[in-house]
Amino acid sequence: MSPFQLTRTLPEDATDAALRADVLHGLTRSPKELPPKWFYDARGSELFEEITRLPEYYPTRAEREILVSRSHLIAAATGARTLVELGSGSSEKTRHLIDALLPELDAYVPVDVSESALRGAGEALLEERPGLRVHALVADFTRGLDLPPTVGPRLVAFLGGTVGNLLPEERREFLRGVRAVLVPGDALLLGTDLVKDEATLVAAYDDAAGVTAEFNRNVLAVVDRELGADARPEDFDHVALWDREHEWIEMRLRARHALTVKIPELDLVVPFEAGEEMRTEVSAKFRQEGVRAELAEAGFTLSRWWTDEKGRFALSLATVD
Ligand code: SAH
Ligand code: AVI
Repeated sequence: MSPFQLTRTLPEDATDAALRADVLHGLTRSPKELPPKWFYDARGSELFEEITRLPEYYPTRAEREILVSRSHLIAAATGARTLVELGSGSSEKTRHLIDALLPELDAYVPVDVSESALRGAGEALLEERPGLRVHALVADFTRGLDLPPTVGPRLVAFLGGTVGNLLPEERREFLRGVRAVLVPGDALLLGTDLVKDEATLVAAYDDAAGVTAEFNRNVLAVVDRELGADARPEDFDHVALWDREHEWIEMRLRARHALTVKIPELDLVVPFEAGEEMRTEVSAKFRQEGVRAELAEAGFTLSRWWTDEKGRFALSLATVD
């Protein structure tokens, strides 16, 4: 069998239908909003990789530091034979975990909405690890997990702090969904960015080079291309603010002047007032007690908690009750 397999768990037109539903719902409500999963077409995935290399964007470096120093402990604690990774993107940091789990690892199962990211990551991993078996899944992890038959014990990794891009109720449902596909003996490895001073947080989402601004505006390019809309990225400013009450960073797009966006595929004309803001992402920041409680509510026990030296980011290892 080929060491690389790719399965689409959703029908070809499901992405299209979901985008239409999200755009129709999000742009006809007040305040307007779009879910962050639509950032990640091929260009958006590239821009995210550029973000991870920015001096202001510390989460990737902090999480890599933890993975480099703790992957052998994670491998010893879980004995995982299957590594499932949700929102795997380039799988760049994951190689530390994969290398610690080899040679017992039977399969790596990266799951992402971005097929281009999955193919690029699979190729890069296999080039250096000919013994590895990769079964990539093009899937939306918020719509239920449909995993292929795999050998246990399983470790599900959800890295990068992507869990913070889900709203609290979505997180609850998501964690319960992950728990439902696991059995005692399996484990969850969860990366969470931590609450810290506002200046550091805002700088990470509003970098001097403007890469995050371009990433944010990329969602308009996706809507234009997929739904024939005429939104002009240059008509919108990038906004990143710290919401102290919810302890999340919120990214928005603010209309520079009054304008309308026509979306022929939806038979819709969307008016924006001058200065009107549309939410495009939340990125929640966490504290240990909050993570422990959310895991417990979903049926997990927090067994290990590691942070980077500077205490900016945490990796939690959770067992299945
Ligand atoms: N885990 C990587 C990438 C994080 S970027 C890292 O830590 O660097 C977030 C990734 O999640 C992107 O690759 C994006 O395509 C994917 N993603 C976002 N929403 C998703 C969803 N609903 N279902 C599946 N993948 C999703
Ligand atoms: C993928 N996710 C964890 C990133 C974050 O930090 O919330 C997405 C991102 N948005 C802006 N910069 C990076």
